[in-house]
Amino acid sequence: MERLTASRLLLLAVAASVAYSAVILDNGAPIMWAQAAARVSELPVQNNILTPNPWNFTHRMSFYRLMIAATDPFMGCMGTGATESPIWGLALQFGWMLTSGRLADPTGATTCGLETGDAMCISPQSWWGCVNHFVTVLPFLSAAQQGIFGQGVQVQMQAPEGSEGYCTTYTDCSTSYPNVMMKWDAFFQGLNASTNAPLPENEKKDSILGLYWDAHMASLQAAAACRAKQRHYSAPEVNFAFSWLNSAEYVAAANFQSSLEKSAVFLAPLPGRVLQVGDQAPNIADMTPEENHILSVFSWMTYMNTFTGGALVRMWRSIMCSAAMREKGREMLEQLLLNPGFAKDTFFSIITSMGTSC
Ligand SMILES: *[C@@H]1O[C@H](CO)[C@@H](O)[C@H](O)[C@H]1NC(C)=O
Ligand SMILES: *[C@@H]1O[C@H](CO)[C@@H](O)[C@H](O)[C@H]1NC(C)=O
Repeated sequence: MERLTASRLLLLAVAASVAYSAVILDNGAPIMWAQAAARVSELPVQNNILTPNPWNFTHRMSFYRLMIAATDPFMGCMGTGATESPIWGLALQFGWMLTSGRLADPTGATTCGLETGDAMCISPQSWWGCVNHFVTVLPFLSAAQQGIFGQGVQVQMQAPEGSEGYCTTYTDCSTSYPNVMMKWDAFFQGLNASTNAPLPENEKKDSILGLYWDAHMASLQAAAACRAKQRHYSAPEVNFAFSWLNSAEYVAAANFQSSLEKSAVFLAPLPGRVLQVGDQAPNIADMTPEENHILSVFSWMTYMNTFTGGALVRMWRSIMCSAAMREKGREMLEQLLLNPGFAKDTFFSIITSMGTSC
């Protein structure tokens, strides 16, 4: 079974190197979706306590599958499709981290995460795996605590060997990251409240997405705790990681609906391998024009923001002040990221001129 999944992954990786860009879909779903648990009872249990291993890719993907299934009844305002929940975006992104080699041990000390080693292993040394811990393990523990999977479901995560200071229970994570857990609690509690609120559907949607992105961003901020792990990567990869975090500011402020379909459009051009010394977009020879384009846009946006002392993100946030403006913002981001003909200058002049709209 484990051999089968490893060779399946290898196939996906080969497909990634011949086709363009990263592999993020496996049969129309996130990577290894079919192998992920569909019921909490499929996770390991000891003494009536769930004891999943968050360093096993399948278990982490299971957290997403379980959270999506349990919250879908409250997501009616997202649309009629089966894949409208904003949590799909996280699941797809997590698959991209696996197929692009970002969950592997960057120190080279173990074969954890290597196609030729333990392919489904997430290395506690991986910066990406560490950041992802904050958007998988923490929300899953919060969801269980809020009764999303039924009353009294208790969870104790398995700790990685050598521990690395990762929190493993609701209490533990609340002590270390109170703000993050509070925000995820607010999201899971808010789902029911919003569903029952006497509001038009588009306002319910904007409100749920607002709670979702608040929690997501709190997780990414707390993931500053992962910074020391960046020393294992090349300068281009560290810069890309920084701009990847920066890009979240824009989608979050626009309350992006990170459904399966919409996220796939954003994630497909992300670099299909870890960047190395000497990689400079848009001239990375073994990458596609799409990968080169998105890397250039990312570094341009980070450069502009740094150059203006953080003004670009602040301005963007202040413009995204109403549901209508956030709608416009989402359209503009799609243009900027996906349409090579859309001039960056246009983006800059639009957002500076939109400043007084609400
Ligand atoms: C990871 O989890 C899956 C599903 O529970 C299991 O089949 C597999 O053996 C686990 N892999 C390791 C290395 O523990
Ligand atoms: C959802 O809200 C309703 C009323 O607002 C309440 O009666 C019900 O217990 C809540 N359900 C959950 C699962 O919190």
